[in-house]
Amino acid sequence: MEVLTHNSQLTTNTPVWRGLIHHYRRYLSVTDSTPVVTLHEGNTPLIHAPRLAEVIAPDVELYLKFEGANPTGSFKDRGMTMAVTKAHEAGAKVAICASTGNTSASAAAYCALAGIRCVVLLPQNAIALGKLAQALIQGAEVLAIEGNFDDALRIVLELSKTHPISLLNSLNPYRLEGQKTGAFEICDYLGHAPDFHAIPVGNAGNITAYWQGYKEYHGEGRIDTLPKMIGFQAAGAAPLVLGHGVDKPETVATAIRIGHPARGDEALAARDESGGLIDCVSDEEILRAQKQAAALSGVFGEPACAAPLAGLAKLSSSKYFARAREELGRKPVVVSIVTGHGLKDPNIAIQSGGEPTVVAANNAAVLRAIGF
Ligand SMILES: Cc1ncc(COP(=O)(O)O)c(C=O)c1O
Repeated sequence: MEVLTHNSQLTTNTPVWRGLIHHYRRYLSVTDSTPVVTLHEGNTPLIHAPRLAEVIAPDVELYLKFEGANPTGSFKDRGMTMAVTKAHEAGAKVAICASTGNTSASAAAYCALAGIRCVVLLPQNAIALGKLAQALIQGAEVLAIEGNFDDALRIVLELSKTHPISLLNSLNPYRLEGQKTGAFEICDYLGHAPDFHAIPVGNAGNITAYWQGYKEYHGEGRIDTLPKMIGFQAAGAAPLVLGHGVDKPETVATAIRIGHPARGDEALAARDESGGLIDCVSDEEILRAQKQAAALSGVFGEPACAAPLAGLAKLSSSKYFARAREELGRKPVVVSIVTGHGLKDPNIAIQSGGEPTVVAANNAAVLRAIGF
């Protein structure tokens, strides 16, 4: 089931990335006979972002893990290669998921490759355009339900229990197995764990998976320290900050518009075991941070990815990192996960980015417009 790429036909000895299951297989539930379903996901860039840090959190050494570089443009591909591989191994014919958008795009792609029928339930009118386009063109059967994500998740959970349909949401343990490889990549790249791991939190699968990954590497002695997990929700969808579910979650960051996170307890455990925190930021702060990240680091993430960046700015102004810097005797290393590509949600980007300036088609007009 592997896709042959031009790279895999090269005759040089350059090592070729063949997807995260191949690379990290000894940490994953696969055997030599497992039919791996891969789009060669993982191995995403970890980008040093000093200009962005200078503006939002000058006391930290900031790295952005750009998960938008995965094949369908989000971190979901890490979990989906595992979940669909295991479903394929078990002979599944139909798979289902509820989604705020990215899970559906990823599930549709991996099911298309494996030849599994893919059904996705999305909240009606609450999905970014790019994600919907992906799921549709990749052949998923897309049902827009008259309810929110939490309603969709409840339905797919029930149907996957009562019918021969594989569940592809992050309650599927193979999803988390795949996603924990993000933590391995960060440690392999840095040569150590970061001091802080910043991440958006919606259904709370990803923070849970990263924490698992760090603990596994630590248990093996591959890293000496563990990061503090700092998760951020949108203020209108912040059940883990409020301490209770939110029945009508609202935020511009549709990917994390979730009021009853399925992995909420595990996220709180990751927070507490690591000595971190889970906080929230407003939509205004999210949109500002999204624009700052794009303009000051070149990394264009969708709005949800800006929640932790806005969170870093908030913590920085309360001297949280200044204190860590004093304790460590150096700037703390912070990795923030840019979970999905900005092009997933073009409408928001166009609203934030503003209109182009129209000029006459001659040199003088262009020079005048750019102030030369
Ligand atoms: C881009 C993006 N960021 C963050 C999240 C939240 O991840 P989790 O639900 O695992 O907390 C999602 C979930 O859909 C997402 O699509």
